[in-house]
Amino acid sequence: MEQRTFNTQFTLFENINDLPSEDFNLMQSARNAIANSYAPYSQFHVGAAILLANGKIVTGNNQENAAYPSGMCAERVAIWAASSQYPNEVVKKIAISVKSSIKMVEKPVSPCGACRQTLLEYEVKQKEPIEVFFTGEVGIVVKAHSLVDLLPFAFDQSFL
Ligand code: THU
Repeated sequence: MEQRTFNTQFTLFENINDLPSEDFNLMQSARNAIANSYAPYSQFHVGAAILLANGKIVTGNNQENAAYPSGMCAERVAIWAASSQYPNEVVKKIAISVKSSIKMVEKPVSPCGACRQTLLEYEVKQKEPIEVFFTGEVGIVVKAHSLVDLLPFAFDQSFL
């Protein structure tokens, strides 16, 4: 028998004003994208912004549906928009933020498991890490340096 440990590194910023300017701008784009979130059921509005190697920012937001599972998270709307418009462009970073109509979200909202798996696909494809910044409506920002840090034991193409 052997015990092993995953070592997950991340960086914390006290709030979005502590981010370097490029990351601050990306987070502001994520926050602006919240405005077009369609979340009449959860009232939980999420925005995501992706920075590509060509300097373009592609945004997304959650899109809900009366048939609940037919809705989609902001991160996957954003990454699929980026990949469909710029299929060969390296994804450098994604920033995620949130605003709930029900309560003040003070904790950083991390991407759900399905979004981590989806984002990881593009990290594996491009053989370069994607940085992930996430925050709440206020408060600290978490920066993960790679999808691998957010998704230990990930399933990828090497299994197929
Ligand atoms: N949601 C996201 O957009 N991203 C996440 O990573 C977590 C959840 C959305 C899905 C749904 O519209 C609402 O938040 C509540 O779960």
